[in-house]
Amino acid sequence: MIDVGFGVSAVTTAELAAAFPTHEVLGLEQDAARVAAASLEFPSLALLAGGLEGAQRQALVLRIANVGRGLSRDGVAALYEQVLPWLVDGGVCLEGSTDVEGHVSTFWVLRRRGPSLQREALVLHTDGARGFSPWLFRDVLPRELRRDVREGTPIFSLLTDWEAAWQATRSAEPLASLRASVAALATTRADVDARFLEQGFCRWSC
Ligand SMILES: C[S@@+](CC[C@H](N)C(=O)[O-])C[C@H]1O[C@@H](n2cnc3c(N)ncnc32)[C@H](O)[C@@H]1O
Repeated sequence: MIDVGFGVSAVTTAELAAAFPTHEVLGLEQDAARVAAASLEFPSLALLAGGLEGAQRQALVLRIANVGRGLSRDGVAALYEQVLPWLVDGGVCLEGSTDVEGHVSTFWVLRRRGPSLQREALVLHTDGARGFSPWLFRDVLPRELRRDVREGTPIFSLLTDWEAAWQATRSAEPLASLRASVAALATTRADVDARFLEQGFCRWSC
């Protein structure tokens, strides 16, 4: 597994390594000073200074958080082109955005199928620390979807249907509200997957 662009600290790489102790986890960061600092902070982690150009290995999972959100549409396409050779066939890239503290996030699930990267789904997650409403996700949507939140679009339809399900099932506890609303939504929408609800995830096939 590779955590691409871990940033000022390799804490997300450390969390990944702790969550998957039987997997090799690598932190890749193009800012060499950040890698040097992170190597002192987390001496047991495998950290590499460099970017995605010129794949040096292949992984089953790549995570890229808060890198694509600052890019143009062409920039994201170029990023995906660089991601492809880092994945084994069938491997997955999770590319997405979070709020500052990581309490709310959305990630594209991009799977390598031979020579291309295919979008399978958008995963929406919160740990409930900021309360819950489906519209909480609006600010952390991938750039192209954020621009698309208007009547008649698939993302608007999802959030509007989710809002109705939430209004019908909501309670005082944010995660209970998330779970109840997604469970209700999944009964009316085949594109909503409620299997990962216990961990606070809603998977939308789009
Ligand atoms: C906004 S920070 C995100 C940090 C962390 N992933 C997070 O979510 O908090 C983006 C980081 O990604 C690094 N970065 C951007 N593009 C990269 C690339 N192609 N390869 C490796 N690192 C990259 C930048 O140097 C920066 O440290």
